[in-house]
Amino acid sequence: MARTSAGPHSKWWRSPATRALAGVATVAATAAVLVTAPGADAAASTLGAAAAQSGRYFGTAIAASKLGNSAYTTIAAREFNMVTPENEMKPDATEPNQNQFNFSSGDQIYNWAVGHGAKVRGHTLAWHAQQPGWMQNMGGSSLRNAMINHIQKVMAHYQGKLAYWDVVNEAFNEDGSRRSSNLQSTGNDWIEVAFKTARAADPSTKLCYNDYNIDNWNYGKTQGVYNMVRDFKSRGVPIDCVGLQAHFTGGSSVPSNLQTTISSFAALGVDVALTEVDVTNSSTSQYAALTQACMNVARCVGITVWGVRDSDSWRSNESPLLFDGNGNKKAAYNSVLNVLNSGGGTTTTPTTTPTDPTTTPTTPTTPGGGSCTASLSAGQSWSDRYNLNVSVSGASSWTVTMTVPSPARISATWNINATWPSSQVLVATPNGNGNNWGVTIQHNGNWNWPSVSCSSS
Ligand code: G3I
Repeated sequence: MARTSAGPHSKWWRSPATRALAGVATVAATAAVLVTAPGADAAASTLGAAAAQSGRYFGTAIAASKLGNSAYTTIAAREFNMVTPENEMKPDATEPNQNQFNFSSGDQIYNWAVGHGAKVRGHTLAWHAQQPGWMQNMGGSSLRNAMINHIQKVMAHYQGKLAYWDVVNEAFNEDGSRRSSNLQSTGNDWIEVAFKTARAADPSTKLCYNDYNIDNWNYGKTQGVYNMVRDFKSRGVPIDCVGLQAHFTGGSSVPSNLQTTISSFAALGVDVALTEVDVTNSSTSQYAALTQACMNVARCVGITVWGVRDSDSWRSNESPLLFDGNGNKKAAYNSVLNVLNSGGGTTTTPTTTPTDPTTTPTTPTTPGGGSCTASLSAGQSWSDRYNLNVSVSGASSWTVTMTVPSPARISATWNINATWPSSQVLVATPNGNGNNWGVTIQHNGNWNWPSVSCSSS
């Protein structure tokens, strides 16, 4: 199994040297400029190793019943450095009878994973589905207490062992309202009670909310979950991460605004992960796009595909995974690996919420060349906006084009003559005050830095 040498928070682009450097280009502004991760001179040959170059993980769902299949375990051990038990840590598996726990299958997967250098993502503690029979017809305070007891006992068993726990799974309707369920009927506060119970039970693990169809930023369900997470963060309810299941099967596909969704959640101060990825017929472009969207956001910590081979998928008829039924790498495997090996995009998001005035957005170095260079560095920042300082070198007569990512907007400039081809594109030329100038950017939830290009005349 590919071992991760850097943890999720030791990202290469956060080095001081990297932060001080700037976006540089000589051609017209483009949406993204690929950056090669330092230390990645030789492309990694497995998904886990490739993701680890940027401090991320690449995971899979594992079924305990398949751990005796060597074709399955050979691929899983070689390619993945994060494991999610597909069914074995769900309530029906871990508490088949009330207050009688069974961790045999969950432990089997945990032991296999750590024995092969992988970390484990717990899935899941409180969910309307896959409840044991005794829980299904419960309600009121007895169910609330049963949920609390379940979280406490299961988390105690795995205390200190798991990287992440999906504390609550799939609690929202498509329109952004709460899904009705026996858990919901115990009171609207059941989710925050679950998270508070989880934090107390194991403070060492990261606590996640996980759901499907929250990939499209313009979708009601996405907004419903976003508002819950924002509310939790504002009130101090413990939540560390959001999982976008990212099932692009059954008629759905990767939305063009996926990166906006990821960066918007990240800007609330949570880790974000794609947790159950599958794509109908393994579209290479969709797999590349979803991988790039994660790579472009610093706090997107990893990607997990929902199974190893197509034949292992819950939607095997859609052939949605990275290996075919014979264990051969598919074209989508190579498209994902290439994106992982090419490193992050031009932008990152901060590790704290936009309401934190100390937040400093950063950008990695963009290798450039040519006749002039526009270097960006962080200026002051506030809850709703931040300043960027721009320094141009290599020419005294220059034109810098700056493109901000939607929905951010440039709200002020200084020391330049500015023209505006569109609301998100600024063209800057010298105004006689030298080569150092700046902009104020209203981030509107997107802290990703703009791309810049410089040309001399
Ligand atoms: O193990 C029994 C087997 O003994 C029995 O003969 C067989 C007969 O139906 O059932 C087997 O259990 C099945 C289990 O998968 C293991 O294969 C269950 O019926 C089946 O319901 C269960 O489906 C799982 C599903 O969650 C249940 O909701 C899928 O494997 C699993 O991939 C899927 O995973 C979910 C995530 O947890 C949450 N997000 C959506 C995702 C896909 O539905």
